Amino acid sequence: MEDISLRVMTRELCRELYSGWENDPAIYMDMDKFAPYRYDEAAVDRYFDARQEPSRVLFAIMRDGKPIGELQLKGIDRESRECTLSIHMQNDAVKGRGYGTIAEKLALKYAFDTLGMTAVNADTVLKNTRSQHVLEKVGFKYLEEKDGFKYYRFTH
Ligand SMILES: CC(C)(COP(=O)(O)OP(=O)(O)OC[C@H]1O[C@@H](n2cnc3c(N)ncnc32)[C@H](O)[C@@H]1OP(=O)(O)O)[C@@H](O)C(=O)NCCC(=O)NCCS
Repeated sequence: MEDISLRVMTRELCRELYSGWENDPAIYMDMDKFAPYRYDEAAVDRYFDARQEPSRVLFAIMRDGKPIGELQLKGIDRESRECTLSIHMQNDAVKGRGYGTIAEKLALKYAFDTLGMTAVNADTVLKNTRSQHVLEKVGFKYLEEKDGFKYYRFTH
């Protein structure tokens, strides 16, 4: 297995990641909102800048020194000590190869060991069975289905 790691996102990594990006229809509840991704450097820079905030850590998922996905720990609440995980691999070529599973495990370790969280939440649209499977595989517990989403939680 290749070397998979998480690296805190930089502007350069973000541009590199999104220059090879494909939107995945699995995350769209409403397919009218789906459109193929088109790279726009200024838009990527705005996206990156908007995510530099104390309640969020934006990671690049790295394989052998190259970004192959994005993972976020967001809504970091240092009082209740919980946050929410989201993940999206770069394109189909890097899905289904075990990388998302490794990245989620690394993110859980970071949330508990580095951020001192006691719980990590996640949610998926109903049709996203692949994401649901991976969340359950790494140990998230299914909580409930509500308003078109399935909710999960990993408690440390
Ligand atoms: C969801 C995602 C992060 C998972 O990462 P990944 O690297 O593709 O996943 P892995 O290869 O580690 O594991 C995939 C697992 O799902 C299983 N799987 C594949 N397609 C599936 C499907 N349609 N339904 C259920 N399980 C499925 C695989 O068999 C594998 O499980 P196994 O290891 O027990 O055999 C990635 O596919 C992705 O970025 N998808 C698009 C964005 C997205 O859905 N993000 C999550 C939003 S909540």
